[in-house]
Amino acid sequence: MNNKKIFVVGSLNMDLVVSAERMPKSGETIQGSAIRYVPGGKGANQALCCARLGSNTTLIGHVGDDLFGKQLVSYLNENGVDTRHVGVRAEAASGIAAITHTKEDNSIIVVAGANGLLSADDVQVLENLLEEGDVVLFQLEVPLATVREAMRISRSKGAVTLLNPAPYRELDEGILKAADYLTPNETELEQLVGQPVGEDSELQEALVRWESLHAVRLIVTRGARGCAYVADGQLKTVAPLKVEAVDTVGAGDAFNGGLAHGLCKGWDLDAAVAFAVRVSSLAVTRFGAQEGMPTLDEVEATMRADGK
Ligand code: RIB
Repeated sequence: MNNKKIFVVGSLNMDLVVSAERMPKSGETIQGSAIRYVPGGKGANQALCCARLGSNTTLIGHVGDDLFGKQLVSYLNENGVDTRHVGVRAEAASGIAAITHTKEDNSIIVVAGANGLLSADDVQVLENLLEEGDVVLFQLEVPLATVREAMRISRSKGAVTLLNPAPYRELDEGILKAADYLTPNETELEQLVGQPVGEDSELQEALVRWESLHAVRLIVTRGARGCAYVADGQLKTVAPLKVEAVDTVGAGDAFNGGLAHGLCKGWDLDAAVAFAVRVSSLAVTRFGAQEGMPTLDEVEATMRADGK
């Protein structure tokens, strides 16, 4: 039996989500229809996704000593995430994300708060927790030095490392050489490779070139176009399920959670990516970054419906 675990090193935020018919233009004021406070943060979203799919999942992060922090941790606990390594920091408020939401789109401003206090010392616990073949998921809403150190430890313990470079920050060699998989969206990929990737031919050229320079696999999420990666020098694309989108916040996190779940189960990359696209497709059909994450049963139902 596969008893590998998933560890997530990352952020927890309270999402303040204002819904509107459309996104405002720069300098414009428009009417919104609702404001909701829901649990989010890329690290917490990805951890909850993995746990809902049935993976044994631990989150390492920080919240403030406040009501939002308590709510964030308690929702993760209710959903099966091990939060024993989520620290409570009195010096800072819990992380916040101000989100403008329409059915098809979103824009997000994050204020790090306690996430910004997660230090290289805090991730030393991975030395004792990790076993060979475990999967560790990272994003960039906690300090880069912390990510670098956690990735170094993960690599030294023989874990599989998956970095979702969001929000984008320049990545140094220390991080790149410890990453097995990078999962940027198209905007983040353009920042990473320094060239446009909108066309399939541009994307293929960028991925082939990048992978020849760095020992890391790139899997690119493309919103309504699904995802793409290169195998044997050729671009492979995976289309999303045909669904009605309600909320795309956390769609990338669902993809990363699904991918980590598949890799943790020991599936090959094609199977893990195909599964991740299903998870992400389902996640946009419900409101809320974490509330939208599907269960394993829901994902498997879509596979049965497609004869897989
Ligand atoms: O990826 C979506 C997440 O980004 C939101 O939940 C928000 O908290 C920001 O971290």
